[in-house]
Amino acid sequence: MSYRSLVSISDYNKDEILQILDSASNFEANPNQTILSGKIVATLFFEPSTRTRLSFETAANRLGARVIGFSDAATSSSTKGETLHDTIQMVANYADVIVMRHYLEGAARYAAEVSRVPIVNAGDGANQHPSQTLLDLYSIRKTQGKLDNLNIYLVGDLKYGRTVHSLIMAMSHFSPTFHFIAPKELQMPEEYKIFCRKNNITFTESAELEGCFDDADILYITRVQKERFLDLIEYERIKDVYTLRKSMLANTKDNLRILHPLPRVGEIHPDVDSSEKAYYFQQAQNGLYIRQAILAKCVGIEN
Ligand code: CP
Repeated sequence: MSYRSLVSISDYNKDEILQILDSASNFEANPNQTILSGKIVATLFFEPSTRTRLSFETAANRLGARVIGFSDAATSSSTKGETLHDTIQMVANYADVIVMRHYLEGAARYAAEVSRVPIVNAGDGANQHPSQTLLDLYSIRKTQGKLDNLNIYLVGDLKYGRTVHSLIMAMSHFSPTFHFIAPKELQMPEEYKIFCRKNNITFTESAELEGCFDDADILYITRVQKERFLDLIEYERIKDVYTLRKSMLANTKDNLRILHPLPRVGEIHPDVDSSEKAYYFQQAQNGLYIRQAILAKCVGIEN
């Protein structure tokens, strides 16, 4: 039996990514499999979450595991000054897997280095969100019937949006063409553009959304990440830079699907929800099956 942390999407090779997607398909067909009976899953959320925490906890429950943890670090002894090192040491005494969201980039990698049990990164600052990426890949494959050679538009906060960073790395196995649409303050960081160049991934950059995505297979919209701004006046100035409306979909391809990691604030108007191209709520539901597959893999159990 092998125990594996999932800190970055690059911890999984292409075959492992495809195995996780296949495993998630099995869980979607049959969600109640008590293969983690007797296991304890800890969910430590140092930052707020709705989908990630609740879907990991649902996944654990559907697999027959029991769940401990906190959804608000203010109720933990970190407020008394306990270090992340000591918190992880303690929780590893109680749990078989630790799912952790933390506001510091690199916190999940550090936790994995000091933990005796697998760590699943549920988001570390603006860095990575690998379980989100796997559910994004699952959603893309499910809606497009393939992962290869897709035309993908990433829109919004490409600077602080950790989901787009992880997605670029994962899609590098599948020859995508990317289009980065962001205001100049929130452009894709240079390190991810370097990553694209090194991996022969074609990309374009623009600040314009309207009328530019008619050839898209996937339109991946992100929220401007208020919690990462040091200057809230700057946030207020750019938070409403893009709003997708249903009328903007008139000339788009039939296979286009709109993804968003959620929560949305103002970047997708509610009138888009009635479009058959809106897929963000089903995307979030897919997170349950993917997180079942991740938990099973982390403790070395195959479904
Ligand atoms: N997509 C996502 O990470 O949502 P939550 O912040 O609600 O977990």
